[in-house]
Amino acid sequence: MKKRLLIATAGLIVLSQLTLVKTGFSHGDVQPQAVDTEGLTALPEEIALENPYRVMGGEQYELAQKVGASGYSGNCARCHGLQVISGGVAPDLRLLEDGEFGDEWFMQRVRKGYSQNGAYKMPPFEDLLSQEAMWAIRSYTETRPRPE
Ligand code: HEC
Repeated sequence: MKKRLLIATAGLIVLSQLTLVKTGFSHGDVQPQAVDTEGLTALPEEIALENPYRVMGGEQYELAQKVGASGYSGNCARCHGLQVISGGVAPDLRLLEDGEFGDEWFMQRVRKGYSQNGAYKMPPFEDLLSQEAMWAIRSYTETRPRPE
């Protein structure tokens, strides 16, 4: 009885490790940090073309910037730099274009990531972050002052 339990447990451990390895690879070895978007207006499934929270303005835009600041720290800062000040590993996101043009490019990159020679330089976030979280991060980065 005891032996069978042991074998079953060992099997489970192997299985869970396999799953870990697999998800590690498919997401470009990223450990996404959950973003708490409570209080932000829920968005329809279709991806917006323009930052909906900037369009709403007021409290929603302010909250989006706050939510985005923590979402950014947990998911983007290790490559794009603390407080959106790039240390050179990845582009400085304060330099992205304002408005709709910048929005479109931002969403494209964040959702699909960027790979070169089969290796992800930036992981795709479309299955890891909600649209609300992505636009919150955009709301934060776009309001960080540009470098002098
Ligand atoms: C593992 C490192 C890494 C992480 C994590 C990462 N990025 Fe990137 N990101 C990159 C690299 C490298 C590039 C440059 C790709 C290229 O050459 O276009 C990039 C490019 C971008 C661009 C395009 C910038 C431009 O000037 O064209 C945007 C927007 C972007 N990232 C947003 C984000 C956001 C938002 C997050 C967090 C949700 C994030 N990235 C997480 C590495 C990363």
